[in-house]
Amino acid sequence: MSILVTGGAGYIGSHTCVELLRNGLELVIVDNLSNSSLESINRVRKVTGKGFPFYEIDIRDKDGLKSVFSENKIDAVVHLAGFKSVGESVQIPLHYYHNNISGTLTLCDVMKTFGVKKLVFSSSATVYGNTESVPLVEDTPLGATNPYGRTKWMLEEIFRDLFISDNEWSIALLRYFNPIGAHESSLIGEDPNGTPNNLTPYITQVAIGKLNKLRIFGNDYETPDGTGIRDYIHVVDLAQGHLKALSKVVSTTGIEAYNLGTGKGYSVLEVVSAFEKVSGKTIPYEIVERRAGDIAKCYSDPSKANHELKWRAEKGLREMLEDAWRWQENNPNGYATVNNKPLQIFTRS
Ligand code: NAD
Ligand code: UD1
Repeated sequence: MSILVTGGAGYIGSHTCVELLRNGLELVIVDNLSNSSLESINRVRKVTGKGFPFYEIDIRDKDGLKSVFSENKIDAVVHLAGFKSVGESVQIPLHYYHNNISGTLTLCDVMKTFGVKKLVFSSSATVYGNTESVPLVEDTPLGATNPYGRTKWMLEEIFRDLFISDNEWSIALLRYFNPIGAHESSLIGEDPNGTPNNLTPYITQVAIGKLNKLRIFGNDYETPDGTGIRDYIHVVDLAQGHLKALSKVVSTTGIEAYNLGTGKGYSVLEVVSAFEKVSGKTIPYEIVERRAGDIAKCYSDPSKANHELKWRAEKGLREMLEDAWRWQENNPNGYATVNNKPLQIFTRS
């Protein structure tokens, strides 16, 4: 079976490609490298020892996508391409709507033209808005608090309309919780541009000396230690969720949402303390104001994915942080350590 992976050069995409290749699937990868580098594709080849075509194409380029579908046999699509920064989406919402929504519409048009109606989509726990009714189940009413979140919510609705119009589609909406960690080989991992927004890459950059100290956004939440609680999931577990979702979509029709999380929440202070244990480093921190838009607790009930996809997150917090730290130590400048990242061109037009 041959799978098109959009956004395959990115953090989650590269790990997903490794898992799909390891399980005997053939891949075609499309990425415009707007938030990634060719080196991650090289590393996927290195980790797996497998080859595959890579197209440096924007998914909004319909003719480009058509040539990908003409030149390759494609049975299903794993669609991860998109912009993902909450803060940036507030600054440049139209870029987010164009890229995430128009890009996905173009992809669906081309899939339809070529009769490919099997899709696994990267959604996010962000579609639960600022609800605090944890653990979150899939039928919790949806919402969004920023343009990025709205793109995911709107796309979920668009996919539902698509299925209503044509029952041959088979779509899995994967609602990721907080993916962290890296491949155990430390050849692929998360390589944020500039100062990280997310907790774990921030901590690892403090540990390696690139940043001075962690700022903890509030210790007055209604949680046992006052800091925010999240459902961190190892990126390799998450990647395996795509494999399971693909098995489901290729053998059925319909549209279903699945939480991909561990079901267990950890506070910021628990993550800091666990990281200090695995790395032997002290993480200096200060408590600062709450970050706008943050909520106290967000963790999943992953039972639906456990039962219907036969998938379960296996790796615990210690392993997530060990792998994140190994990646950071071995790649202090991410993929730029040995690659062409400075030559990367941003094509956000
Ligand atoms: P990432 O930025 O590392 O990967 C996204 C990839 O898509 C990048 O390689 C980027 O170059 C590519 N891309 C963006 N726009 C494109 C376009 N128009 N055409 C072609 N390629 C394009 O992000 P990630 O963390 O790997 O996230 C992957 C997906 O998962 C995204 O859709 C994101 O919104 C979603 N998601 C991520 C998280 C997270 O915490 N990382 C959480 C929930 C959902
Ligand atoms: C953020 C996004 C969310 C996105 C997710 C994964 C916001 C408001 N939400 O989620 O939409 O799906 O990333 O990309 O941006 N923290 C600190 N100091 C830091 C960084 C984080 O204290 O420097 C705290 C946060 O307040 C939070 C926890 O650590 O309690 C996790 O934060 P983060 O990694 O940014 O993820 P989310 O906020 O859950």
